[in-house]
Amino acid sequence: MRTLTWSLLLLAFQPSHSPTMSDLMVKIIYPASDSIFYITTRTPGTDGEWAALQKNTEALEQAARELIEPRRARDRERWLADAQLMVDASVKAVAAAKTRDLKGLEDLNDALYTSCVQCHQHYRPNYGRGLAQQPASGNQHPAPSIEGVWNFSTLTPFERSQEFSGKPYMTDAEAAAFEARTIEQGNRDRRGASPEADVGGAYNEFWFDRGLRLATINGRHPSSLVVDPPDGRVPPLTAAAQQRAATRAAERRQHPADGPEDRSLGERCLTFNAGPPMNPGPYNNYVQIFQNAGRVIIFNEMIHDARVVPLDGSPHPPAPIRRWQGDSRGRWDGQTLVVDTTNFTDKTNFRGADQNLHLVERFTRIDAKTLHYEYTVDDPTAFTRSWTVSLPMTKTDDRVFEYACHEGNYALENILRGARAEEKEKR
Ligand code: HEC
Repeated sequence: MRTLTWSLLLLAFQPSHSPTMSDLMVKIIYPASDSIFYITTRTPGTDGEWAALQKNTEALEQAARELIEPRRARDRERWLADAQLMVDASVKAVAAAKTRDLKGLEDLNDALYTSCVQCHQHYRPNYGRGLAQQPASGNQHPAPSIEGVWNFSTLTPFERSQEFSGKPYMTDAEAAAFEARTIEQGNRDRRGASPEADVGGAYNEFWFDRGLRLATINGRHPSSLVVDPPDGRVPPLTAAAQQRAATRAAERRQHPADGPEDRSLGERCLTFNAGPPMNPGPYNNYVQIFQNAGRVIIFNEMIHDARVVPLDGSPHPPAPIRRWQGDSRGRWDGQTLVVDTTNFTDKTNFRGADQNLHLVERFTRIDAKTLHYEYTVDDPTAFTRSWTVSLPMTKTDDRVFEYACHEGNYALENILRGARAEEKEKR
């Protein structure tokens, strides 16, 4: 089927027809590059499939060469440089397809992808839809829209497990097995043998919403959300931070429930897992983003926190001003919204971070359905190096749920009441 489609496309692609830029992209470049982006998940198995792949790479090269034709070039230098990236990547792709060099094709992914994104950032003003205009900042490009409700649930583990040590990506077979196994193991409808186990299991499966799939980025399944350091693990805490964590833990053991301040922020319905940064959890993995010329509002389903991010170039407040969610300021870097957050408190301790946390989040609209979310954690007093998490968010027509944490929730009161009762007994 693919082969047939391809010969038709190649027929359509005759210089005399001189396809429009849009046709060139949609009919030739897009499907042809897909066969390289998805090389690990749609690996050719037969001679026929390899031949079809080779044809695709050749069509890609031909199209790339078409892009550097003088009549296509929009302004000489930058366009030619951008298009040349694609020529280079596609020439390598043709060679790799000829020798059936799977690894070579896989390694080409990044270079090819970069060639698309770079030129689009420069020459595709309507990249993304429903444009929000930039505030007057001298930047001529309109900002893309990242508005809407996005789902960031995923089965991909935060850190890479021993099982995938040294393997940043799962193969298709590994991914399918991992998904099936994780869904089976996490099934909260298996209530356990005893009444205690049943109660301890809390809600049943209906209430969970972890997602059913691993994250897919460029057609591949990363084995962890942490992508840097390369081992896919959060780097160790500094010695001083380990000491502080040990002191906090000792204090908690000695004073588990003297007052509400001794309990976790989650139990107190103050902050949890709404970020920043945002991370997939067992449920409430939606975020709704609103955008206008001066601000972006990041509204999380979890705990209904709305983060208002000014885009006006104003600075962070002075250091003594500290907030639970830090202070976020945004700016457009080409098609990417970059949100810089500082002024955290020492109370939230995201993975051991402290008040010196400097968080940089990047939101990039990849296509109609995908928003790529990436963040880098830099906190020299907490971590031995900075680290980065990367995950795709998917557009949904669903709406965010309401959120209730305090309502009808007697947990905190009962924990404190229990602690007082225990003290009386000990006296
Ligand atoms: C040298 C510049 C350049 C390169 C390289 C490039 N593109 Fe494009 N692309 C464009 C321009 C310009 C448009 C807008 C076309 C128009 O509407 O006139 C576009 C549009 C598109 C569209 C949308 C077309 C539409 O009508 O909505 C797709 C899909 C696309 N490109 C895919 C790709 C892929 C995949 C790659 C990389 C393998 C790539 N492009 C590389 C310049 C480029």
